[in-house]
Amino acid sequence: MTATPVLRTEHLSRRFGGLNAVSDVSLSIPEGETVGVIGPNGAGKSTLINLVTGHLKPSSGRVLIDGRDLTGARPWVITHAGVARTFQIVKPFRGMTVRENVAIGILYGPHGVRRMSHAREQATRVLEETNLADLAERAPGELSVADARRLEFAKALALRPRLLLLDEVMAGLRHREIESSLELIRTLKTRGITIVVVEHVMRAILAVSDRVVVLHHGKVLTEGRPRDVLSDPQVVEAYLGHRYAQRRTGGS
Ligand SMILES: Nc1ncnc2c1ncn2[C@@H]1O[C@H](COP(=O)(O)OP(=O)(O)O)[C@@H](O)[C@H]1O
Ligand SMILES: [Mg+2]
Repeated sequence: MTATPVLRTEHLSRRFGGLNAVSDVSLSIPEGETVGVIGPNGAGKSTLINLVTGHLKPSSGRVLIDGRDLTGARPWVITHAGVARTFQIVKPFRGMTVRENVAIGILYGPHGVRRMSHAREQATRVLEETNLADLAERAPGELSVADARRLEFAKALALRPRLLLLDEVMAGLRHREIESSLELIRTLKTRGITIVVVEHVMRAILAVSDRVVVLHHGKVLTEGRPRDVLSDPQVVEAYLGHRYAQRRTGGS
């Protein structure tokens, strides 16, 4: 008998009016695996994460965490099941410092640390791990793009998740900043955390993913080993088609 996957989606779908944003997606992710999810803008990557974390309700299909059916459950229920995520558009608590942003997850997350002194200690550890220690007393609004993305990461890690979903944490980062994010992901992998990485930075996907899933128009176009998938003509075309379209419409 094989172990129960940490995350399983069964025929997961979400419509917005007439648009099938996520369509019949069935995935099974065993404990400790890092799965890269790629696909052009609008492919349904963020929607997929939102469906798994309870930020959106599916139109049909199921979401199972450790075999438990949590389809349509509220986000905090899913958080308490050991799932954490980052947001593509960073969402810090604005009236608080960087340290307090992290401490919140430690105090109110699934591991519910009650003592403020313990929470501060743990927050310091997470801030060190994410290279934010020097910025601990700053307001989130003062952070650079790279540091704001790292804070998203830190807030998620504060929950000590078993399943971590990262939505474009490397977007807009420089080479060196990408390297430090990859280093962090590698560290989390060695701890056995199961990770879903949504990313446009192909180098990053290749560096950390055990498996890659390609979404296109909400559907799984293909999946497999990173190198095989990225040399797949269908995948290349999906991307090239997208880039050409962007160039024609003057997008970036
Ligand atoms: N809340 C929403 N209401 C209506 N349409 C949405 C909503 N969220 C996403 N979409 C649409 O669903 C599709 C998939 O979006 P998204 O999951 O954000 O794609 P990706 O993250 O792959 O770029 C897009 O066409 C997007 O415009
Ligand atoms: Mg997205």
